[in-house]
Amino acid sequence: MTKRTIVKLPGDGIGKTVLEEAIRVLDAAGFEADYIEGDIGWEFWCNEGNPLPDRTLKLLEEHKIGLFGAITSKPKDAAFEELAPELKEKGLVYSSPIVGLRQHFGLDICMRPCHSYKGNPLNFVRRGQGGTIEEPEVDVIIFRQNTEGLYGGVEWSNPSDEVYNALMTHPKFVKNFGNVPREELSVSTRIFTKKATERILRAAFDHAKKYGYKSVTLCEKPNVIRETSGMMYKMAIEIQKADYPDIQLWNTNIDAQMMWLTKNPETYGVIVAGNMFGDIVSDGFAGLIGGLGFACSAQFNPDSGIGVFEPTHGSAPKYADYDVSIVNPIAMIESACMMLDFIDENDIAAKIRKAVAEVIAEGKVRTYDMMKMTGRPDVIEKGAASTQQMADAVIEKL
Ligand code: NAI
Ligand code: MG
Repeated sequence: MTKRTIVKLPGDGIGKTVLEEAIRVLDAAGFEADYIEGDIGWEFWCNEGNPLPDRTLKLLEEHKIGLFGAITSKPKDAAFEELAPELKEKGLVYSSPIVGLRQHFGLDICMRPCHSYKGNPLNFVRRGQGGTIEEPEVDVIIFRQNTEGLYGGVEWSNPSDEVYNALMTHPKFVKNFGNVPREELSVSTRIFTKKATERILRAAFDHAKKYGYKSVTLCEKPNVIRETSGMMYKMAIEIQKADYPDIQLWNTNIDAQMMWLTKNPETYGVIVAGNMFGDIVSDGFAGLIGGLGFACSAQFNPDSGIGVFEPTHGSAPKYADYDVSIVNPIAMIESACMMLDFIDENDIAAKIRKAVAEVIAEGKVRTYDMMKMTGRPDVIEKGAASTQQMADAVIEKL
């Protein structure tokens, strides 16, 4: 095995803790790598006015693979308040560095797998016939378009003349908003491009083909959001017909999908959606398999080979300063496994996933979330495993 260089991006809060634990697990599994630390997050916003410094972009450009913890993000006014006094005159506006990373490197393919581990007390259960309890096995992977749509950042409050006049060319705008004072208007656009839409659709179909899923479900709202969702649905039909005739294309609306989530989650396999709906539906499925302590993700640009792998949870500031960290490192460890898959270290990834599965099935070591406790420092005394103990348990299995 050639030794890899991985850019570790701890970020803020619990991001730092879970990342270190995941690296211990990677080491124990025999993954040989040098880790270079990249600066990202709140302290760099406060002290430098940029939460994603250029030096970090350069590191990723060079080494291609980033393992990311989590960052703290705040609305722009709150962010401005915390800026170092000498930077306050510079007209800086805060924006999320993780969204910035995605857009800078065109990390447009986001994968969020949600599969239930046997023995996880947080698995979704439902009532079956005759009052029986059923625990459906969830094995879903969400392909979320990661750079466009509602997160594209093209938005205005109190729009300028040019923007306002352009909006006024649309009859629906005139009819529904034409009488609204301009300073009372806020507009966020939802822009989809054919290129990016095709890429995420094909990524989903390719994955279904490779791993034997029988269907791809497009989860949008084409009957109402006719241009963007409508284009995506039309392209999905064409692509399926032309290149993936053996895989069924299902079309569900995001709202109905959220309702069906708990009715028959085992029916779904590969799901594909735009940015916002992909974010929503992936959190929904994550809730069925244990929540944020289990939700991992990969985001990458297939052309440049640049990929960043991260748990979907945030920096959980309220738990960040505990003497003994209580948060669950599994989402981060699973994200590290997705990184290993991406760089073709599938055997090591499989080994780690097997170790995690064994620890969960055995049920002796469980973090506070798995014990359904309220997160407080005393959960450790009450028998919950710490972040480190959970990683130790995985390492022992390895
Ligand atoms: P969060 O994900 O940080 O935490 C929400 C709650 O989920 C926590 O209070 C905790 O109860 C639970 N939780 C999160 N991670 C867990 C883990 N590994 N194990 C067990 N329980 C866990 O979301 P929140 O509180 O809304 O945001 C905190 C900060 O994180 C904000 O500044 C937000 O902007 C940022 N954020 C960053 C993300 C990223 O870096 N990709 C994603 C989401 C939020
Ligand atoms: Mg989210």
